[in-house]
Amino acid sequence: MPHPSYGKSDREDIYSLIAYIRSLTPIVNDLPEASSDFPMNIIINTIPKKAEFTTMPKKSDKLAYGKYLFTMASCTDCHTKQEKGAPIEGMELAGGFEFPLYTGGTVRSANITSDKATGIGNWNEQAFVSRFKMYADSAYKPQSIARNQFNTVMPWLMYSRMEEEDLKAIYAYLQTVKAVNNEVVNFSVN
Ligand code: HEC
Repeated sequence: MPHPSYGKSDREDIYSLIAYIRSLTPIVNDLPEASSDFPMNIIINTIPKKAEFTTMPKKSDKLAYGKYLFTMASCTDCHTKQEKGAPIEGMELAGGFEFPLYTGGTVRSANITSDKATGIGNWNEQAFVSRFKMYADSAYKPQSIARNQFNTVMPWLMYSRMEEEDLKAIYAYLQTVKAVNNEVVNFSVN
């Protein structure tokens, strides 16, 4: 759970989430208590920090607004490589975070810094928006994945419902983050 990102939200957004969740039909599902192996059972207690609530910037403040959305969408958490549960310094948004797929193989997040050779520095705003919006097309059908076939873990379908203006704000914010040269092999089968 990306606590550090969500902890920077606007209180009002959390209140909205609570209101929305309370509107859903309750489902009885008695789950076993969560447990984790060593060392996660220790680390897990050190992860949650006190929330540092912020105020959602106005839409007209495009960069600040884009940064807020980017934080709320928790993009950083998947797009920054970690070591022992902490983001590697200097590699912010440079991708390479590994996700082993249960269908076989490992997918790695993309470098989304503005590096021209290995990041998205050559993408213009339209290319960025279209990359998300292609999943909003009603003709798009989720496909089944064969063994050892590439699959993404990025929640494209959810993000595709974002407003274009919001995606443009995220794009503008991404243009301002430090370019990091980091070539990522986005999928491999071991
Ligand atoms: C759950 C993890 C996860 C989250 C959250 C996530 N991504 Fe990704 N993203 C990935 C992975 C893995 C890939 C590589 C596979 C792919 O291209 O779909 C990727 C690929 C991308 C790409 C490159 C696509 C391409 O065609 O090369 C962009 C751009 C991107 N993500 C932007 C974002 C932005 C912006 C956000 C937040 C709104 C975000 N991602 C949130 C995991 C994530």
